[in-house]
Amino acid sequence: MHILAIESSCDDTAAAVLQDNRIILSNVISSQFDVHAKYGGIVPELASRSHIEAIWPVVNEALDTAGVTLPDIQLIAATQGPGLVGSLLVGFTFAKALSLVNNIPCTGVDHMAGHLLAIGLEKNKPEFPYTALVVSGGNTSIFTVNSPIDFILQGRTRDDAAGEAFDKVAKLLGLGYPGGPVVSKTAEKGDPQAIAFPRAWLDKGSLDFSFSGLKTSVVNYANRCRQNNETIPVADICASFQQAVVEVLVEKTILAAQNSGHSQIVAGGGVAANNALRKRIKERCREEKIKSFLPSPVLCTDNAAMIGLAGYYQFAAGNTVSPDADAFSRSPLN
Ligand code: KG4
Repeated sequence: MHILAIESSCDDTAAAVLQDNRIILSNVISSQFDVHAKYGGIVPELASRSHIEAIWPVVNEALDTAGVTLPDIQLIAATQGPGLVGSLLVGFTFAKALSLVNNIPCTGVDHMAGHLLAIGLEKNKPEFPYTALVVSGGNTSIFTVNSPIDFILQGRTRDDAAGEAFDKVAKLLGLGYPGGPVVSKTAEKGDPQAIAFPRAWLDKGSLDFSFSGLKTSVVNYANRCRQNNETIPVADICASFQQAVVEVLVEKTILAAQNSGHSQIVAGGGVAANNALRKRIKERCREEKIKSFLPSPVLCTDNAAMIGLAGYYQFAAGNTVSPDADAFSRSPLN
């Protein structure tokens, strides 16, 4: 079966063609970086307009690269939510229209399910069940993944997502957007032990997260430096902030796996591309005799291949959408 997948939940327009649940024939991502960079963050209205311009060219490129045409496609899978509704509507409506006109079934995919399953497109993949950390610009959650369509929430952020915290710290320090990659790069030159930023462990045994206090600590630290006319130690702040985020993400994910009796941990979402996080997950999993599975960075950040994979399983479970199905801004999984 050839699957055409479309993802437009935030600021990337992406399309991919998959052969069944195994082979990525194409995986095209068109970034809106230039559109939003000057504003220091995503402007939803501009994101929707950019998706409208990009969607046809991106889908055509995905089909061409895969060496297929629309009559070869047996399933269209598109992100139905969560995300920016204006952005979602472009990709989801496009997918439903393409499905209607060409008489191809269409399935709506939860973006979170895409991140939870993306590892399934790698050679080295886990068996079900496993514990998965989804850590991106909009979400920070831990799930038990029992099967490709059975996800149980174990914990989630009570305020900011980890990626959002990276983006806000980058903005505060004048490092630009998106914050994750630039904070991570700057952190390489800093000392992760230099500043004792707080770790929000919350109640004993809690699998929830909170990053707003950490973000405020970074703001206060930088303000104190300014008030005292001291140079802001940007690299040390980045390294110490990153260390605080990584430590909490990793320890809570390991605790979740141990609570569930799982011997495998998976990470997904844009922040899972972070080198310090990847290194720490591998180290701690080795110590705890847990196997870790990390998708390659291109399958961590937003992409349509993971939507095609999740869509394959939704379709196999008999779930298709009708032309009047709506996009949703919040995930029912979360
Ligand atoms: O999954 P994603 O592409 O989009 C969604 O939010 O769904 O994740 C984007 C987020 C942004 O907040 C970005 O700053 C963060 O992932 N990110 C990173 C890194 N690469 C992307 N955060 C830390 N380190 C990175 N290397």
